[in-house]
This record gives sequence, C-alpha cells and structure tokens, in this order.
Amino acid sequence: MLRMLQRLVASDRAMRAVGLVAGPFHPWHPDVRRDPYPTWRRLRETAPLVRVRLLGAWATGRYALAERILRDPAFSTDRNGVPMVDRMRRATRDAPELQSLFDENLLMIDGPRHARQRGLVGKAFTPRRVERLRGRIEAIVDELLDRVAGAGRMEVMRDLARPLPGIVIGELLGTPAADREVLLRWSEELVELLDPLSGREGIAPPRRATAAASAYFRRLLAERRAAPRDDLLSAMLAADEAGESLSESELISLCTLVLAAGHETTVNLIGSAVLLLLRHPDQRRRLQDDPSLLPSAVEECLRFEPPVQITDRAVVAPCELGGVALRPGEIVAVVIAAANRDPERFPDPERFDVARCGERHLSFGLGSHFCLGASLARIETELALGGLLRRFPDFAGGAEPAGWRRSAILRGPTAVPIALGAAKPVRRTGAESAA
Ligand code: HEM
Repeated sequence: MLRMLQRLVASDRAMRAVGLVAGPFHPWHPDVRRDPYPTWRRLRETAPLVRVRLLGAWATGRYALAERILRDPAFSTDRNGVPMVDRMRRATRDAPELQSLFDENLLMIDGPRHARQRGLVGKAFTPRRVERLRGRIEAIVDELLDRVAGAGRMEVMRDLARPLPGIVIGELLGTPAADREVLLRWSEELVELLDPLSGREGIAPPRRATAAASAYFRRLLAERRAAPRDDLLSAMLAADEAGESLSESELISLCTLVLAAGHETTVNLIGSAVLLLLRHPDQRRRLQDDPSLLPSAVEECLRFEPPVQITDRAVVAPCELGGVALRPGEIVAVVIAAANRDPERFPDPERFDVARCGERHLSFGLGSHFCLGASLARIETELALGGLLRRFPDFAGGAEPAGWRRSAILRGPTAVPIALGAAKPVRRTGAESAA
C-alpha cells in the first residue's frame, strides 16, 4: 500500500518540478475525488498502457495487464535506480528516519530480501492468530454500537469505521489501550506520505510521525524482549527461520507498516461499504434477507470501491507490455480501481451485486506482495456491516457522504451520518469490553 512513497516523497516544490500538480490528469480535483470512475474508464478505454506525461509514468486500467505487472518479476517494488526516485531521495537526504523506513520496508523490497522478511512475519501473523480475534471483534462492534444506540443516530466514520480497526490493530500488536489515540494520529500522518499533495504541510507530518513511531516501537520491543506476551510484537521477536530472525530496524519498520496499513485502509472499506448499501437499497434488502451473503458483499464492496485505488511498480528488466517496449527505470501505475471494473473480466462491471462471484478483484494486490492483512480486513468489515444491519435494520442516510478523502491513492468517505431507527436486542458473545 505504501508503494508510491519513494516517488512522492518530496516537498511540494519538487512535486511541481516533476509536473505532478498541473495538467489534464488531475486526480486531486474535487470532481474526480467525488467520482474517479469516469476518469478510470477513460484510462482503460484509451489504450492498454497510457503514458501519463505529467506523472512521468505509464498507467494501465486493464485487468490482464495489471495482473501481469503484479506477478511478473520484470516489475519490482524496489525502485532504487529509478532516476526520478533517486532525485526524490536526494531531496529528502535530511530525513534519515524516512529513508530507513523505505530501505527496509516490506512493501519497498523485492526478491530474496522480501521473501525472507515476509516468511518471518508470516510466522507471527498467522491465520490462526487472526481467526482467534473474531469473537473479540464482534464484541468491540457491539460495544461501539451500544455507545450510539441511545442517540438514535451516528456518524459511521467517527463512531465505527475509525475506532474499530484502531482498537483491533492495537490489540493485535500489543500496544497499551491508553496509547490508541496517539497511534491513530501517527498512522493518519504517516499515510500523508503516500500523497503529500493531499495534506497542507508536505512531508512534515509523516516525518514527525515516523520518528515518533520508531522511538515508540523501539521502546515497546525492548519491553517485550524482556517479558514476552501473547501478541504480534512478541511473536515477531520470536520468529526465526533457519537461525535467521528480524533485525531491530526491520521490526520497527514492520510495526509501523502494520499500524498504518492495518488502519487507514480498513477504515475506508467499512465507510464505503455502508455508503454502498445506502446507495443500493435493493442490494441491502437482499443482504438483510440472506445474511449468508455477507462475505460476498464485502468482496463486492472491495471490488466496487477499492480503498487502495492505485499501486505501482518499477521496470527492472526490458520487456514488452501492451505493445510498448519498456526500459528499466520506468514506472508503471496499476490502477486497481479501473481494473476492477474491466468488462473483459467482470460481466456488467458497473452493477453493484452483493451476490457476485467469479473473477477475483485486485483490491488486495496479487503475487508476492499480496496484502498480509486481507483476512483481518475481511473479518472486521463483515462483522461491522453485519452488526450494523442486525442491530439497526432500518438505518437510513443520504447517498452522498459529507466528502471524500483528498488522497488520490486512498479512497474513502470523510463522514457518513445516519439515523439508526428502531434498535434490535444485542446478541452478546461474552467477550470483554472495548474500552
Ligand atoms: C481493506 C483493507 C486493506 C486493503 C484494501 C489493503 C490493500 C493492500 C494492497 C493493495 C497491498 C499490496 C500493494 C502492492 O502490491 O503494491 C497490501 C499490502 C500489504 N498490506 Fe494491506 N490492505 C488492507 C488491510 C491491511 C491490514 C488490516 C493489514 C495489517 C494488519 C495490512 C497489511 C499489509 C502489509 C504488511 C502489506 C505488504 C505486504 C508485502 O509487501 O509483502 N493490510 N495491502
């Protein structure tokens, strides 16, 4: 998810120098933020591979090409040697904390280095550990809904979509509940790095947040080393493969990545999912009549409104793609949100259908960098949506949110106010409190 980081790490002045902020392709324009899909459609229909001159990159909105780029080792997440990235690196020489985050970050490395780190973190982040959280997530959803039940209304982002992934990721990592707010603030500041033009202060907030989060996790890791617990931090410290373990800086970079990736994306998915049900009352009724459709409804929300709209890769070996000869050092943007609506892969792709099955969407990526937290995000969204529909079956709200995030990479509503209607009794599972 942090793919665009290195290229985008720069002051606004440097961004202007590479031509990112002007011209016809303007992903930050309010109309495009409100509805980027006509733009993605144009991209998909123009050609397999389109040169976006102002981005200094190629882009594809076609599923087949996206699939190849994400799987083919000729396209890498390691962008050392890409001329524009090297220029950006020089522009951030004075921010060593950011540089080290990029150099070792799971999302920024490839080949054997990536396989080793991914293998080690996979030993800690097991499907069993995630599945064990199901009951606890259900209890947190119920408690968050209890808090708003009396008021008869809620703002979905503030009251459910934002707190839920924050609590879950904190409990999974093993960070104290008292630190929750500060961790969420760091996570929000960190992802501004993905898209510095979306913020007002350039790279200052992500830089502050990275330094603070690094110091925080260094301290917490020392505590867990001395006294391990049943949490992800301790499990990552213990992960060992053929005598190899994760280094201190790899651990810090992983904790920071899991914190930001685990929070900023799931928030958007939950918010967009509620909005999609408000916009499609027939599909909502279908889901209410048959709750066994919840898992496929979550997949359809992921396909229809991907929280991560774009990722990209650097070309590392000469190759041909969509009739274009690509040279090492070039960048190709994969517009996930366009590929997910490619009619070549998805019949009637503009139709939102909670029972759709078949071709897999690309919202969690593909190949070696496939999202580590996909099953966690799925469980959280399923339980949040399921809880809301069960407790407040008549909830109602407008089809337009108060606004959309300004980021061109991460998509989600800023606020979704709803009236709750009559409440149904809560089904308790006996798990502890969310507070
Ligand atoms: C709806 C929620 C989520 C979405 C849409 C999402 C999306 C993605 C995507 C598209 C990638 C691949 C990027 C690429 O190949 O360029 C990715 C990777 C990753 N995600 Fe997620 N993610 C979500 C939730 C989570 C959660 C909950 C966690 C952790 C708890 C997480 C951790 C990661 C990590 C660590 C990677 C890097 C994997 C690697 O490079 O090997 N994500 N995610």
